[in-house]
Amino acid sequence: MAVLDIVHFGDPILKKKCNPVKRFDGIDRLLGDMFDTMYEEDGLGLAANQVGLDLHLFILDLSDIDGVENPLVIINGEITASEGESSYNEGCLSFPGIRLDINRPEVITLRYQNPNGNWETETFSDLTARVIQHEMDHVNGIMMIDRVSTLDKIKIRSELKNLEIQSNEKQKTRPTLDGYNF
Ligand code: NI
Repeated sequence: MAVLDIVHFGDPILKKKCNPVKRFDGIDRLLGDMFDTMYEEDGLGLAANQVGLDLHLFILDLSDIDGVENPLVIINGEITASEGESSYNEGCLSFPGIRLDINRPEVITLRYQNPNGNWETETFSDLTARVIQHEMDHVNGIMMIDRVSTLDKIKIRSELKNLEIQSNEKQKTRPTLDGYNF
């Protein structure tokens, strides 16, 4: 298992709608590395493109917070229904030091594949629903700043610029899929 580098704002992979996962036989090692990375960084969720991998999958673990029993792996997910709305001050491992108030539906129904490739449909609420929507945005190429007003973006303009400059340097050593059996 290994802790992977987190991709920050400024890297174009965060703007890309990720490719569907088609093979599940080599996925365990990748998921193990993603969980190691998420726990190391104290994240609640982590999407594959946040570690530089163009795959439509993400993980989350709210065991300590939202009463969810187990960590979740969401592959090729699709939100099929949603209701309600709430605002929450979100953070993101790809935007270190930045938090933004974002409106999202409170309850969602999600269709997704588990690590065995089997399809499941489940309804989520509260913080779990919010983290799922944040990570779903990631694998669809949508970032936190795409969900806020121009004024909110102007307020964090200099922080974004700094992240962008650092990202341009880091992209040269970005991890690739080469090490995984896909
Ligand atoms: Ni994020």
